[in-house]
Amino acid sequence: MKQIIHITHPLVQHKLALMRQKTVSTSSFRTLLHELSTLMAYEITRDMPLHEVEIETPLETTTARMIDGKKMVFAPILRAGLGFLDGMLDVVPGARVGHIGLYRDPETLQAVEYYFKMPSSMHERDVILLDPMLATGNSAVAAIDKLKTLHPRSIRFVCLLTCPEGIAAVHGKHPDVPIYTAAIDRGLDENSYIVPGLGDAGDRIFGTR
Ligand code: URA
Repeated sequence: MKQIIHITHPLVQHKLALMRQKTVSTSSFRTLLHELSTLMAYEITRDMPLHEVEIETPLETTTARMIDGKKMVFAPILRAGLGFLDGMLDVVPGARVGHIGLYRDPETLQAVEYYFKMPSSMHERDVILLDPMLATGNSAVAAIDKLKTLHPRSIRFVCLLTCPEGIAAVHGKHPDVPIYTAAIDRGLDENSYIVPGLGDAGDRIFGTR
């Protein structure tokens, strides 16, 4: 319960340091995020349950192990979560993809859902929820609230950066959801940006600043 998995692998930390720099171009930012997501996919799937299958090698019959259950679901929170998706799919090409559209109400700062589409049989699937920045935690909590109405087998939350406020918000409401992150930053500024952070992840991925 209340698991936070800080991925400290040197390759992950090195690429994250490059991405944080304000001089990095949109195309390099996107490429680095793609590379980072493939590396993070290994950590995120590390404890996926396996089951034994009987297979035929060219020489004999043997028992091997394969990931158990129906295909897992990558669920990016639009739009920045999309930046994580292709790298994850490189590693798990058979995964299904569910989309969650949320925007922040400018008055209340609460997350409002505008799109939600998941595959069938969610109760048999493990969901990997993707959002590069876990800041206030409002979007993450709203996304997990909604996902839980479909009773998936498990939910993991994956971000690049978070901060104590984001972790407290998610684990305050959903202590059963592990958070995978490449960094835990100092906190939030007055505009709810993570500091030192990397700026607006969506703008940096899509070049919309
Ligand atoms: N979303 C971002 O893109 N960046 C932050 O720092 C916080 C939320």
